[in-house]
Amino acid sequence: MAKFVGGVATSHVPSIGAAIDHNKTQEAYWKPLFDGIEPLRTWAAEAQPDVVIVVYNDHASRFGLDLTPTFAVGAGSSFLPHDEGYGPRPVPPCVGEPDLAWHIVESLVINEEFDITIVNEMTVDHGLTVPLSLAFGQPDQWPCRVIPLCVNVIQYPQPTANRCYKLGKAIRRAIESYPTDIKVAIFGTGGLSHQLQGERAGLINTPYDMKWLNGIVETPEQLAQTTHLELLTEAGSEGLEVIMWMIMRGAMAKDVREVHRFYHVPASNTAYGLLVLEDVE
Ligand SMILES: [Fe+2]
Repeated sequence: MAKFVGGVATSHVPSIGAAIDHNKTQEAYWKPLFDGIEPLRTWAAEAQPDVVIVVYNDHASRFGLDLTPTFAVGAGSSFLPHDEGYGPRPVPPCVGEPDLAWHIVESLVINEEFDITIVNEMTVDHGLTVPLSLAFGQPDQWPCRVIPLCVNVIQYPQPTANRCYKLGKAIRRAIESYPTDIKVAIFGTGGLSHQLQGERAGLINTPYDMKWLNGIVETPEQLAQTTHLELLTEAGSEGLEVIMWMIMRGAMAKDVREVHRFYHVPASNTAYGLLVLEDVE
């Protein structure tokens, strides 16, 4: 049977990927951040997940206003990095896990009544590749297979935090019913507080970020009731991304052990947050 090995919440700031790609991680600006994520790399190397489900959002790369799935699962056998304007990131292609992806999709649609978009061909942008770089560094090939789970947090109406939490729970049930002996982890990406445009561009709300870091660990049921209006007000227009952390948390046990927590400001014009969590058996 598949074994669930843990969950990671991490921001997916594009400039973090650029810092890695251009060997700037030890420069004064970036070193504190990369020092802070080192325990994630240690955990990932020890947990050795065979498959990572990466919950992320596409930033008008593979998808756009012509096609905006609410929840899309990548069921293909490989996913190339998307060219977001500066050429594709110099990272390996992601090798997919179609058998588990289809099992998850079948379970979600048939058993759980979640209407999931199935994507057989897709490129993946920084939302997915930056978290992989944070966890695994710069290998010639990623040490795990990847199932992309793309969430619409861009175009109104986005799913609620509670819907995301429920989806996470449903995904966990799908993992538990997968008969093959593999280790599975889930990453929830995006956030924390940030706003990229308008009068409040550069907004960072550290007290509110702490509410999320604490709530994800301790009171996810309560956090799942967070409204979009609260997120937009407190975390900024792009802060809504943090609802994707609820999918990760929903996939975990009621009680979790906090392996590592890290918070850093600034990462570009955002707050960076990281949680590494394991189930309390
Ligand atoms: Fe993003």
